Amino acid sequence: MNVVQQENARFRWVTLNASDTNVDEGAAIIQGLKQMPKTLPCQYFYDDRGSQLFEQICDLPEYYPTRTEQAILETYAAEIAQLTGSCELVELGSGSSRKTRLLLEAYSKTNDQLQYCPIDVSAGILKTTALELLHQYPKLKLCGLAGTYEQALDQLPPAELENRMLIFLGSTMGNLNPAECDRFLDRVRNALQPGEFFLLGVDLQKNPAVLEAAYNDSQAITAAFNLNLLNHLNWRFRGNFKLDQFSHWAFYNTVEHQIEMHLRSLATQTIALETLDFQTTLQAGETIRTEISRKFHLPTLVKTLETYAFQPLQVWTDPNHWFGLLLCQRQCISDECP
Ligand code: AVI
Repeated sequence: MNVVQQENARFRWVTLNASDTNVDEGAAIIQGLKQMPKTLPCQYFYDDRGSQLFEQICDLPEYYPTRTEQAILETYAAEIAQLTGSCELVELGSGSSRKTRLLLEAYSKTNDQLQYCPIDVSAGILKTTALELLHQYPKLKLCGLAGTYEQALDQLPPAELENRMLIFLGSTMGNLNPAECDRFLDRVRNALQPGEFFLLGVDLQKNPAVLEAAYNDSQAITAAFNLNLLNHLNWRFRGNFKLDQFSHWAFYNTVEHQIEMHLRSLATQTIALETLDFQTTLQAGETIRTEISRKFHLPTLVKTLETYAFQPLQVWTDPNHWFGLLLCQRQCISDECP
């Protein structure tokens, strides 16, 4: 059940059901820590501190995805608004909505009604951004949803405008493994009506040296971001992780075409998560994989999207072909359309 926490004429705030997901979350953590190699769900990067660190990552000289995608949006936002016409913008993993501001700017020029629905697990950043945007765009109506992508896609409030565009930027889809990605695309298809739009930003395959530099920055912000996941687990599940007993490790897996981020245990140690009633031993040198960041091949991705009833209308890239932005339209399936 959704909980509407705050409401006025231009602003609605909904916390998506958190209570029953705690059980699932605990199960996912335990399952990951029982695997070989051990893994932890990357969603735990994003507490308020983690979201701030991620914002800093986006500005790092080595981390090219944000500014490259931003440049593509700067060039094509007006064309996107023209191609879709008036529509409600729904953004998964909105964070500070910095790139979406380019779209809001473009849509505010062509449409009388501006409707934006940011979705993020970090309620803190969601609320701060919502207040800023409402101040900046006097005709904007905003509905913030605090929750995971899965919760949001399953519980999207009815559209307020006739058309809708679901926005998923920053190559966050790359953080899903192929099975999760399939389930995600299935959910997106079910959340959209035929004719509605899906705007997807993806990081593309490239020279591994460029990729590895982006995840091993010289200021060690990515290392702090990686380690903060343990802090988050400590307060969330009464964990006993000692951050100085772990180090950051990131490399490009050329077979799977993915960056892998790990935390390496610097000693043999027993880690416990008290509220999950779970403990396990890590050997010195053993790693926990905390994130995969898949890098896509555009023609293969286009084919995958088509199998999920998404017809790419337009695909844009930057001059280096490092990053791709795809505007897709949801097609009819089976007996949906006459
Ligand atoms: C959010 N996501 C797309 C980022 C990425 O590049 O995979 C997260 C990140 N991890 C380390 N740096 C940035």
